[in-house]
Amino acid sequence: MKEFKILAVLVVLVGALYYGIEPFAHSVMHPEVAPANFAFDDLKNVDTSLKGNVDNGKVLVEANCIACHAIEAAGHLQIMSNADAAAAYGVNPPDLSSAGRIYDKNFLANFIYNPVAAMKLDHKYPVGGAKAFPMPSYNWMQPQDIMDVVAYLQSISPKVTEDKAGHEATFKAACSRCHAMKYGTLEATTPAETLKTYLGTTPPDLSQHIKSRGEHYLHSFINNPQVLLAGTAMPRVGLTEKAQEEVIAYMEEIGDSKKAERESVGLWVMGYSVVFALLAYLWKRKIWKKVH
Ligand code: HEC
Ligand code: HEC
Repeated sequence: MKEFKILAVLVVLVGALYYGIEPFAHSVMHPEVAPANFAFDDLKNVDTSLKGNVDNGKVLVEANCIACHAIEAAGHLQIMSNADAAAAYGVNPPDLSSAGRIYDKNFLANFIYNPVAAMKLDHKYPVGGAKAFPMPSYNWMQPQDIMDVVAYLQSISPKVTEDKAGHEATFKAACSRCHAMKYGTLEATTPAETLKTYLGTTPPDLSQHIKSRGEHYLHSFINNPQVLLAGTAMPRVGLTEKAQEEVIAYMEEIGDSKKAERESVGLWVMGYSVVFALLAYLWKRKIWKKVH
């Protein structure tokens, strides 16, 4: 009976530590932030309930966007090398093939209307400031035209597979103009020196951020960097919840590829401990029976 009392005391102590003290310490070290907002409903310049016209969107995209952006899915290949594009714009304009799929509709429409406001970079590019953001605002376009552009981009987006290759494609489209993922052998498409001039800092290689920051932090940070790192040069990229999950899955597949294995081994170890504890207990009873 004594053993069970000791066990009960241990369980209570460990429980208090695990469910009481640890979460408390955690909340002090990492104060709760507002949860990720995938509605992007702080952006209200474009009426996104308008139904877009794909054919008109195609005309508008060809007239306004492909001078800077490649759109491989629609046969518009990159016209400049990565280095030349980066030198011209400060950062390499991303290929827009999957833009209609990975960016939230409300974000994308409002981004086209006013990129700086949607990305929350007003502190770096104040209205009337000396530096202009490299992508122009299309605030002269009618909301209907902007929704046509969005509808067109949505219509050409290729589907991705639910595996590492698919997750990598999403990461490449959304992040790799600025970030390398060296353990996954991905380099940033903009040269580091150019990025330093453009952003004032070099974006980190993200190979290990799933471990150093954790999934929870990444979910909030990618959704809205300014909340966790006020004044940061990293833009709000406006991914849908699904696309953001794909990006984080890729970061995990590269940075913590043993996670699934570790977790499955954990169950075996726990099972082993239970069997072993039972055997040890029976053995002890047997020995002590002789002594008493
Ligand atoms: C003069 C060049 C230029 C033109 C024209 C241009 N863009 Fe861009 N665009 C850029 C650059 C540069 C970036 C990257 C900016 C950054 O990351 O700071 C960008 C970024 C983007 C992004 C990524 C947004 C995100 O959240 O990461 C989208 C989507 C986009 N542009 C759509 C468009 C569309 C649609 C058009 C046409 C209506 C267009 N762009 C016209 C230069 C341009
Ligand atoms: C236009 C360039 C740009 C793009 C695009 C971009 N980032 Fe960043 N990112 C930065 C910069 C700059 C920093 C460094 C921020 C700082 O130190 O203030 C950064 C920092 C980070 C950090 C580190 C945050 C920390 O706590 O230290 C993470 C994680 C990150 N980015 C993830 C992403 C992901 C995921 C994507 C794609 C969905 C992405 N970024 C797209 C520029 C970018």
